[in-house]
Amino acid sequence: MFRRNGTIPLRQNSLTGYTKDIMTEKDIKTLKDQSLKILTENRRTTDGHQYTVPSPDSYPYQWLWDSCFHAIALSHFSPEDAKKEMRALVSKQDSSGLIPHIIYWKKVPGVIDIKWGREGISSITQPPMLAYAVWNIYKKDGDKKFLEEMYTYLYHFYNYLLNERDPRHNHLVGIINPDESGEDDSPRFDIPLGLSEDQTSEENFGKRKELVEKNKTCNFDAPFCMKEFFWVKDVPFNAIFVKNLSLMGMIAEELNRMEEALYFRGRELRVADAMRDHMYEDGVFWSVMGEEYKKIYIKTWAIFSPLFAKLLSGEEAKELVERHLNDPSEFKTKYSVPTVAKEEKVYNPDGFWRGPVWVATNWFIYHGLCDYEFAEEAEQVREDTAKLLMESGFREHFNPETGAGQGAQNFTWGALIVDMFARDPNQKEWLY
Ligand code: GLC
Repeated sequence: MFRRNGTIPLRQNSLTGYTKDIMTEKDIKTLKDQSLKILTENRRTTDGHQYTVPSPDSYPYQWLWDSCFHAIALSHFSPEDAKKEMRALVSKQDSSGLIPHIIYWKKVPGVIDIKWGREGISSITQPPMLAYAVWNIYKKDGDKKFLEEMYTYLYHFYNYLLNERDPRHNHLVGIINPDESGEDDSPRFDIPLGLSEDQTSEENFGKRKELVEKNKTCNFDAPFCMKEFFWVKDVPFNAIFVKNLSLMGMIAEELNRMEEALYFRGRELRVADAMRDHMYEDGVFWSVMGEEYKKIYIKTWAIFSPLFAKLLSGEEAKELVERHLNDPSEFKTKYSVPTVAKEEKVYNPDGFWRGPVWVATNWFIYHGLCDYEFAEEAEQVREDTAKLLMESGFREHFNPETGAGQGAQNFTWGALIVDMFARDPNQKEWLY
């Protein structure tokens, strides 16, 4: 909680004894200003569409979940710009309802180029954060016309996932390529891709590109592609789906579409139940693969993503936090929260999605911890995120032990800190 004198309280961490520095109102303002600056500098307009590129040098296109993060951050500064971001994102929805994970508005020479079989867009998707972003914009200015405008796109997108990504009708949605998770090289996908623990990043990229070629042979038709080549039911993707289905229920209700509100709430419960039936074991949700729903036992930040969708009881959440988040051999590092547990053989504090801290994963964990009223842990995650940005700048990811910035420069995800500042961890009521 922010103190009246303009500081975040000083705390002693009971496990590590590590005392947090004080963050002043001035620091908070600096981070807010920097967030707005980067969102403005990375803004582009093509063919009348306004969108934000995650990093001008490394990622000069529009990405799905990035745009949702941008819209969430922008909604605190300018709901109108946030709306434009979402309009650009849904503008390339295809007739199946899929919203592509990349829109190549304007080709930039020299940037890694994967051919997805379609001109100007990719043929896969990304974690379905759209309803969350739209609802957050609506919360700021109550613009029902915008809600109505977005609803049709969202309706078709969530139905695409419900119908096409669950061919066995077990109510879990599958992904057809690791990139659909947003965590391209995560070790959760090593076994499904047939990669060894000591793989190089070139080998990893090679396998994912191979998969794209295979998926072209089934025209990215998900039920066929999943059965033939790669079929993972990932924990964060499904947890994010549950949360967003619940928001689809709220949006439908707000628009007086009561039957559709009931429909989405019903689907939300089904997916949530299926996650428990197929993924939960010994206090942890594990991603599963293939027709047999085989669990992939690798501890990544994904084990905390169910907090974001309120999938755990209070007791279960407490155990998860005590046993894993606060354990120095797992996720308690100098800068929380590493994307892979330290005790995992594949943990690499400098590897892409194989250890470093990312602001978006911290953002999901932060909201989950707030929802369960773990105020101290939530504050720690927020402060660590802020410190990383202040010490190393708006980088793509960070070493959890040294705080060193890594990957892309001028990376927008740091702007999510604005949304974290907007929520007091001690505040009980928060309508998303
Ligand atoms: C990387 C990330 C992915 C993100 C994209 C653009 O591929 O793994 O999550 O959407 O960059 O920032």
